[in-house]
Amino acid sequence: MTTLNAEYWNNRYQNNNTPWDANRITTPLKTYIDQLTDKTLKILVPGAGNAHEAAYLYDNGFNNVWVCDWAEQAIEQFKVNHPDFPKDQLICGDFFEIQETFDLMIEQTFFCAMSPSLRPQYAQKVAQLLKPKGKLVGLLFDVIFSKEGPPFGGTKAEYEAYFESYFSTIVFEESYNSIAPRAGKELFMILQKE
Ligand SMILES: C[S@@+](CC[C@H](N)C(=O)[O-])C[C@H]1O[C@@H](n2cnc3c(N)ncnc32)[C@H](O)[C@@H]1O
Repeated sequence: MTTLNAEYWNNRYQNNNTPWDANRITTPLKTYIDQLTDKTLKILVPGAGNAHEAAYLYDNGFNNVWVCDWAEQAIEQFKVNHPDFPKDQLICGDFFEIQETFDLMIEQTFFCAMSPSLRPQYAQKVAQLLKPKGKLVGLLFDVIFSKEGPPFGGTKAEYEAYFESYFSTIVFEESYNSIAPRAGKELFMILQKE
């Protein structure tokens, strides 16, 4: 079984082997972000890779946006592609070691990239990183893949079980505006803390 450590991911960026990268913000996240009015929200994009969501947020006036990825190559590429983005809001390190709090976290092919054994820990960490009333918003696969991951798929029932003890509002809906390769295969998720 492949060890999904920082070196593994860094090599994938170095070799341009990044088929998950949509090369732009995806439609469901763009639609969600476009209806946000509070530009002061402190927002984290974890496992961000080329971080198109963070760039989109920043370009649209959300200045308190943070990027986390442990693949150095991804963070360096992001700096080159987005020279105006504040460097002190780029966390090149392990998501599970972040010690900040946020109003909103954006999920886009990070959860599915980790070993499923880490899912309970992911739910706990997200809950720890969010302020009261904070939200985790994004996309999770609604499919069980036949090939070994990453990506690793799952079901709504499985996901609900991870999150229900930390979040008072849990919405998973079939995504109606996914990008073409993911159409019919993902859930749009909104989780909110008490
Ligand atoms: C499949 S990629 C998705 C990247 C990006 N979200 C996208 O949609 O293009 C998964 C990313 O999660 C990062 N990652 C995995 N585990 C991580 C961890 N524990 N801490 C920080 N980043 C991590 C990898 O380096 C990789 O960039």
